[in-house]
Amino acid sequence: MEAIRHGRAGGLLHNVGGYSRHSDFVSTEELVKIYPEAFEAVKELGSRVNEFEGRVADAGVNLVFLASMVANAGDGDHVEVGTLFGASAVVVGLLKRLLGIKGDLYLIDPYNDEERREDIRMIGKDNKLMEDDSLLTATPEALQRNMETFDIEYTLVQEYSNPWPEQLEGKTFVT
Ligand SMILES: C[S@@+](CC[C@H](N)C(=O)[O-])C[C@H]1O[C@@H](n2cnc3c(N)ncnc32)[C@H](O)[C@@H]1O
Repeated sequence: MEAIRHGRAGGLLHNVGGYSRHSDFVSTEELVKIYPEAFEAVKELGSRVNEFEGRVADAGVNLVFLASMVANAGDGDHVEVGTLFGASAVVVGLLKRLLGIKGDLYLIDPYNDEERREDIRMIGKDNKLMEDDSLLTATPEALQRNMETFDIEYTLVQEYSNPWPEQLEGKTFVT
């Protein structure tokens, strides 16, 4: 349980999969159960990544956790802030399909290339991303092509999340 107290992923993974352990810090009910379908969805994206345009910025275990969160939530709409080329959105779409989970995908991203470049520049000027322009210039059209490749329906809200887009005012999301 030390790992959980200290917030290390190893501890969290140790406690997923439905078996119960008790802690004075966090209860297993608060942890995300990891679904095999979450791995399957991430594996599908991985195995077809050559068909995916641009780059997968959220990767690996993050996507497994994201997909598992969606699986745990069940039916309902999903909203994503920051979609880029759509990797995480594809995984959520695949997961919902695999488990027959109902609900629409709403994707919020302003697609402001200049700002994205500046953010990446701030991370570090030796960042490899800066050398390949095609990895930086995400567009709604590239997103559409990727979503079509995986046959996933979505609604793009091409705005910043703050202030919350008027189009989404009053809507509720399970994730
Ligand atoms: C790290 S990328 C997202 C990666 C993506 N989810 C994936 O799976 O590859 C961050 C994205 O967040 C977007 N973004 C940054 N601030 C935002 C905001 N306030 N509202 C919506 N999108 C935002 C950027 O335009 C950028 O495309």
